[in-house]
Amino acid sequence: VLRVQRVASESKDASIPAMFVKSETEQPGITTVQGVNLEVPVIDFSNPNQEKVLREVYEASKDWGMFQIVNHEIPSQLITNLQGVGKEFFELPQEEKEVYAKIEGSESLEGYGTKLSKDVNGKKGWVDHLFHVIWPPSSINYRFWPKNPPSYREVNEEYSKHLRGVVDKLMKSMSIGLGLEGNELKEYAGGDDMIHLLKINYYPPCPCPDLVLGVPQHTDMSYITILVPNEVQGLQAFRDGHWYDVKYVPNALVIHIGDQMEILSNGKYKAVLHRTTVKENETRMSWPVFIEPKGEHVVGPHPKLVNEDNPPKYKTKKYKDYAYCKLNKTPQ
Ligand code: SIN
Ligand code: FE2
Repeated sequence: VLRVQRVASESKDASIPAMFVKSETEQPGITTVQGVNLEVPVIDFSNPNQEKVLREVYEASKDWGMFQIVNHEIPSQLITNLQGVGKEFFELPQEEKEVYAKIEGSESLEGYGTKLSKDVNGKKGWVDHLFHVIWPPSSINYRFWPKNPPSYREVNEEYSKHLRGVVDKLMKSMSIGLGLEGNELKEYAGGDDMIHLLKINYYPPCPCPDLVLGVPQHTDMSYITILVPNEVQGLQAFRDGHWYDVKYVPNALVIHIGDQMEILSNGKYKAVLHRTTVKENETRMSWPVFIEPKGEHVVGPHPKLVNEDNPPKYKTKKYKDYAYCKLNKTPQ
């Protein structure tokens, strides 16, 4: 199986396989606005004025689809540990990682892998990944959680526990922002049945970073995504028709509004178009957690947000059917 980590270790001489070289319309060296860091809203969760926090979450979700949270309640030591155990896993010998390989032909995304399907232009991304569910317990399959390093499980469980508080606070703010009761958005979204799916992205150094992308442009399918990067900048967002590097803020959680939130809010909140770049001499990693419905859950605009003057802008369908259409690029 092709793993980008191996390709990278064999590409010492400034040349890489053609399958990774993006067309000129996508190459970050050509399509990025140079010398500017996009300052997406940074929201201080510990602000004693919680009305202000609420308003900032609302406005950022509506106008940007992306923001960063600082002074959240996740201890920085826990984030350091999360990054540490993930890095240790990816630094294991290849055959140890393959024990956790995604099962071919399986419907589930879970496991270690490299995106097999090429993007629309037939090019691959410069990234390997590991996917596994971290919540709720009834949906967890520990088969895909690394046993090595030994503290992997404990650290990830601890992170998951803290993350639930952040999800609740965000969902509540977004609910009130839409004019709903604090709990209504989460209830409609699936309540405590919502899946928290962790992905670890591992972007090895690349001799030609201007020609490749890590993850090509996309919006997330989730309601929201809560992401921790390592210290290497590489996230880009599309804003006013251009691609920008997103400013790296130490210790921040990066929040993406995903498709299901755009749908639920009947277009009030906007899913953000984003992609990632890679570096010549540094390994970038990121830990997005996708907060999403179960496959059977039906998602559409919240009934209280539609009426004669505001007809639904999106179809109502099962999440698994939404995902199938998106992944197979059939028109919605
Ligand atoms: C992603 O959008 O899937 C990855 C984002 C990142 O690595 O920062
Ligand atoms: Fe994403």
